[in-house]
Amino acid sequence: MKAIVQDTYGGPDVLVARTIAEPTPKDGEALVAVRAAALHIGDLMLMQGEPFVMRLGAGLRRPRKHIPGFDFAGVVASVGADVSGVQPGDEVFGETNGGSCAEYVVATPDKIAPKPARLTFEEAAAVPVSGATALKGIRDVGKVEGGHRVLINGATGGVGIYAIQIAKALGAEVTAVCGPGNAQLARELGADHVIDYTRDDYTRGEARYDLILDNVANHSLADARKAVAAGGSYITNSARSEGRWFGAVGRMMHAGVVSLFVPKQGRPFYSPVRRQDLLDLTGLIEGGELRPVIDRTYPLAETAAAIDYVAGGHASGKTVITVAG
Ligand SMILES: NC(=O)c1ccc[n+]([C@@H]2O[C@H](COP(=O)([O-])OP(=O)(O)OC[C@H]3O[C@@H](n4cnc5c(N)ncnc54)[C@H](OP(=O)(O)O)[C@@H]3O)[C@@H](O)[C@H]2O)c1
Repeated sequence: MKAIVQDTYGGPDVLVARTIAEPTPKDGEALVAVRAAALHIGDLMLMQGEPFVMRLGAGLRRPRKHIPGFDFAGVVASVGADVSGVQPGDEVFGETNGGSCAEYVVATPDKIAPKPARLTFEEAAAVPVSGATALKGIRDVGKVEGGHRVLINGATGGVGIYAIQIAKALGAEVTAVCGPGNAQLARELGADHVIDYTRDDYTRGEARYDLILDNVANHSLADARKAVAAGGSYITNSARSEGRWFGAVGRMMHAGVVSLFVPKQGRPFYSPVRRQDLLDLTGLIEGGELRPVIDRTYPLAETAAAIDYVAGGHASGKTVITVAG
């Protein structure tokens, strides 16, 4: 099969197109013919091997995972033993640890679900990791309810586009923080208010919020908490940071410790994709309350350019790879 492969850590030029053997599904796995994949910052970090602390799990000198991509949508080609609820021919979407920038990928049924009927494969691939992260942050950790005032910092990137819509679906009043070029998109997705971060700093305004979901982490935790209403919380999930050794790990640990003592500081969260999340997201999509936004689509052979675009940190929605037409 055709795949994008990396043998070493480094910049986009470590990603090369190669023909390699198709994976074989083990017991409990499905083999999926990938129609589209999507990228996020995790792919950039694994390509670079940074922050270095991540290499403790990802491979010290070279990556254990050779193919980029976690998100995918495609058609089940075969299933291993002990797989139920998924069969060859099913159109599915989900998350894999195997690398979705390839013609075939293996995945476990607990991380895949039927593709939402109204979405194309490209649109469906744009949902799993970012959609599940937004769902976890807004619904499960943030416990957003009708009438809550929610601010989303970094509101029009991969996670933000879903966070705006999920918060609106739960009845919140949503303030989106984004650059001037994305204000219109934020409003189209349902934001009631938009703050242009190039002109205004939400931590210095008068408004207070019941939940702040921070995808950018460009303020100190203490400053960000100033904008939280009594009884509300600030949660950050950002992994972007200049530090090459620890990246955002230090900030996340700091937030975790502070959250034990400071009421407005929520714990950082990590959101592995679960089948139930995909089903819940599908419910919102089929109900017309949630839609993916694709910024750019690249062919498989241009995956390196796509990751370079993600690295810029200014995508309007998701960056998608078309694997097979
Ligand atoms: N916890 C988890 O399980 C999990 C899973 C996935 C992602 N994440 C994390 O979530 C974060 C966001 O990911 P993403 O995929 O949404 O990133 P992204 O697609 O790169 O989007 C980042 C957004 O931030 C905005 N932005 C840039 N500078 C800003 C500033 N100074 N103030 C406010 N907004 C600013 C950009 O808007 P403009 O283009 O308008 O500048 C862009 O839309 C990442 O750090 C990622 O590591 C966590």
